[in-house]
Amino acid sequence: MKIDFYPDFPRFPAWVVWAFRKGDKTEWAAPAELQPMLRAFAERANFRGDKGAIQVWPLENRKPAVVLLAVGLGPAAGLSGPGWEQAAAMAARQARKTGLSDLAFALAENGADPADQARRMARGARTGNYVFSRFLTDEKASGAPLSRLAFCGKAALNRSVQAAAREGDIEGKTLNEVRDLANLPGNEATPAVIADTAMSLARKYGLSGSVMTRPQLEKNGFRTLLAVARGSRNDPRLITLRHKGSPRYAKEKPLVFVGKTLTFDSGGISLKPGKGMEWMRYDKCGGMAVLAAMAAAGALKLPRPAIGILAAAENLPDGNATRPGDVVRSLAGPTIEILNTDAEGRLVLADALAWAAKQYNPKAMVDLATLTGAVVICLGHEAAGLLSPDETLSERLLALGRQSGDRLWPLPLWPEYDEALKTPFADLKNIGDGSAGTIAGGAFLKKFVPPGVPWAHLDIAGTAWTEKDLPWQGAGATLFGARLLTDWIRNP
Ligand code: BES
Ligand code: ZN
Ligand code: ZN
Repeated sequence: MKIDFYPDFPRFPAWVVWAFRKGDKTEWAAPAELQPMLRAFAERANFRGDKGAIQVWPLENRKPAVVLLAVGLGPAAGLSGPGWEQAAAMAARQARKTGLSDLAFALAENGADPADQARRMARGARTGNYVFSRFLTDEKASGAPLSRLAFCGKAALNRSVQAAAREGDIEGKTLNEVRDLANLPGNEATPAVIADTAMSLARKYGLSGSVMTRPQLEKNGFRTLLAVARGSRNDPRLITLRHKGSPRYAKEKPLVFVGKTLTFDSGGISLKPGKGMEWMRYDKCGGMAVLAAMAAAGALKLPRPAIGILAAAENLPDGNATRPGDVVRSLAGPTIEILNTDAEGRLVLADALAWAAKQYNPKAMVDLATLTGAVVICLGHEAAGLLSPDETLSERLLALGRQSGDRLWPLPLWPEYDEALKTPFADLKNIGDGSAGTIAGGAFLKKFVPPGVPWAHLDIAGTAWTEKDLPWQGAGATLFGARLLTDWIRNP
């Protein structure tokens, strides 16, 4: 996309200005000459700069016409880096609805690092403008897509600000491309389609990639992954993407990401209730976040190496499906009694984690999975569960969560929780005793990570998608985790 930089507001059809709430008053992050007019508008419209408030005002006596998009940010003190991304996204979402395709953003100059702010705003502008229009026969109904972006203010002439804005734009673009895949329903996004799309994104962004189909999965012993996929006519895939990074870091161990990629989770023979089952098309979102981070790493040519693995399968009931009580031997060795076929995410991840640890000598390994409904009970939609026996890794991920906006909250993985996985019939069973469901999931996965590999599990079941429109994004996949992982590769 074309991005321009100006010291002042240019001849642009729409100017985005930011309003902070300060007690009873509004403080504008906007050029001084606009302030009296903004105050007058705000007075008339009863606009106070509350977080999430957004208004479109026509600027009078201007040719060509100019529209002001006023975005409320709430109290200045409460605004973090991720807040700027959401604010830009809100503006871009409103712009699309209003039919504005050229946006000029005011850089706030409120003490925040302007490069960081520009990067976040560009990324937010892109993602906020996204519409999932694949199945809308009337394309125009989805409004006017963004075509030009400008950053305005003294800092906009700064080279580092300009580079950062371009990076944010690239990241936003890769996020949107993957979001199109993540939002596809199960009939369209089969494991084979996910593999093909991932490979074409890999080619486009300079990653190398490989895909295992059924024969290779059988040969390599992915028996638990295959057990999950048995009921579906759509065969599973294991997709591996490699970002080499620059030669300077060629000897560095890679960060390894593993994503649960269930293209649809009906529960299998342990069938889910019908109500709300359609949301299980988002059960692939761990893999989608991994794919988006890998695409971004390639597109941005980040110097550090990373590997992304998507364990893709579909969980359906069938005459050939896995039954409750079936026992399978995992790739790592332990046998698993599958007591509930709906606890399938941990089964596909068990083999994928063991494989990844063995093949790639990870510096650290993190899996992302829409693993348990219990994490939604626990944390709602505001944070993902973080489970890890490694304190250093946990601290790093928590910090990344705060700065990326993909917030994490820790849950314990004490050895006592392993007790609940015992069964007389195999080395372990795939469900716990009904308590601490999210932790039981983490405790299960832990058994398949070799000792010495720093590992963490992110349960993103509550954060991977939104059922309702939000001010900064429409209903559907959020790609929660992608921003966090990208920031991590940038700064491991
Ligand atoms: N994909 C689901 C988890 C899920 C539930 C994600 C709701 C998002 C919203 C997962 O495969 C699952 O079904 N988990 C079971 C585990 C249980 C059988 C131990 C669950 O959470 O009920
Ligand atoms: Zn399930
Ligand atoms: Zn699932």
